[in-house]
Amino acid sequence: MGNCWYRGRPSSYRVSSNAKSESPKADSASVKEDRKEGSKLPSNPEEVEDLRGDTATNPLIAFTFDEIKTITGNFRQDYVLGGGGFGSVYKGFITQDLREGLQSLQVAVKVHDADNSSQGHREWLAEVIYLGQLSHPHLVKLIGYCCEDQHRVLIYEFICRGSVESNLFSRAGMLLPLLWSVRMKIALGAAKGLAFLHEAEKPVIFRDFKTSNILLDQDYNAKLSDFGLAKDGPVGDKSHVSTRVMGTYGYAAPEYIMTGHLTAMSDVYSFGVVLLELLTGRKSLDRSRPNREQTLVDWAAPLLTQRKRVLSMVDPRLGGEFPEKAVQKTAMLAHHCLNRNPKARPLMRDIVDSLEPLQVDDAIPITGFSFTVSYD
Ligand SMILES: Nc1ncnc2c1ncn2[C@@H]1O[C@H](COP(=O)(O)OP(=O)(O)OP(=O)(O)O)[C@@H](O)[C@H]1O
Ligand SMILES: [Mg+2]
Repeated sequence: MGNCWYRGRPSSYRVSSNAKSESPKADSASVKEDRKEGSKLPSNPEEVEDLRGDTATNPLIAFTFDEIKTITGNFRQDYVLGGGGFGSVYKGFITQDLREGLQSLQVAVKVHDADNSSQGHREWLAEVIYLGQLSHPHLVKLIGYCCEDQHRVLIYEFICRGSVESNLFSRAGMLLPLLWSVRMKIALGAAKGLAFLHEAEKPVIFRDFKTSNILLDQDYNAKLSDFGLAKDGPVGDKSHVSTRVMGTYGYAAPEYIMTGHLTAMSDVYSFGVVLLELLTGRKSLDRSRPNREQTLVDWAAPLLTQRKRVLSMVDPRLGGEFPEKAVQKTAMLAHHCLNRNPKARPLMRDIVDSLEPLQVDDAIPITGFSFTVSYD
């Protein structure tokens, strides 16, 4: 593996290596064409719209930087929702007086650091291209962007409960622990989002699937966000796409880290890791734990097929309130997703089918002893 860097938060370790050199903009047909013509990354909204071309299924609003300042209250510190390797995300408000024809709307505004790094610019562009053409109930909606001077900003619909990461690992007393039924709903929603990407007319590999990139709306519907690393899947008789290795330690599939060969099965592996996090309440990588427990997969994988031991792995925050059979089935599903052989992993569509019968009606009390729904 090549170099790696730490992107500022204890739970997030980004992987990057030069296993294969990646073209700057190999993320969509229109972007590839642009590369062939040898032109550079777009530097204004006209060039962005040119690049989007006929993939521009979803209309996007091109905001000026002054408008972004108004939307975020001039980047108020108390509006900061979080931050990743690229910069910060702010809460914001679009009001009708911002521009004629706009509806009032609460938004999230991702402001890329103005360091002009080409990687940051590529990630910004990938989001504009992908979220400008894909729409699905389990993908976050992009409202618009700003491309002015060195500023690169993305404006999304605001998803009120924030990330699965912040809900799952919140400190005691900050947020209520996620119920088992809610965890299963999140797993199913996220699986549907990935299945949609993998089955699109031009399949897309998400490449950075993790709990901080799954957002939750009021009803705990999962929405995939952060398409900066997304990539077109292999076409024709190609089995994989060759890429520079990028993603997050603890989530990236081992064969992808080793070879740079990216397939939809890399996302399936990452899905298995997220399933483990939902099951155990442990982070994919946790340096504060004893050595042999720091990497969740290494610790959990040998236990997943042991029906009794699996029950002792369940998140203690659930206080024993979970249906045993469903836990065992979820563990087996994670086991299959984490298979070292990518070809032996299930398709996202099969994962959706496996998760459907594990959904729990919220009205049914989920207690260790009185749970009566049979999963057989
Ligand atoms: N549309 C949105 N609605 C509400 N909150 C959001 C939205 N988009 C992002 N956030 C918040 O901003 C945080 C940072 O998001 P982002 O995905 O950009 O970084 P990250 O996932 O934490 O780090 P990384 O750079 O490793 O992806 C998220 O965890 C979430 O809490
Ligand atoms: Mg993210």
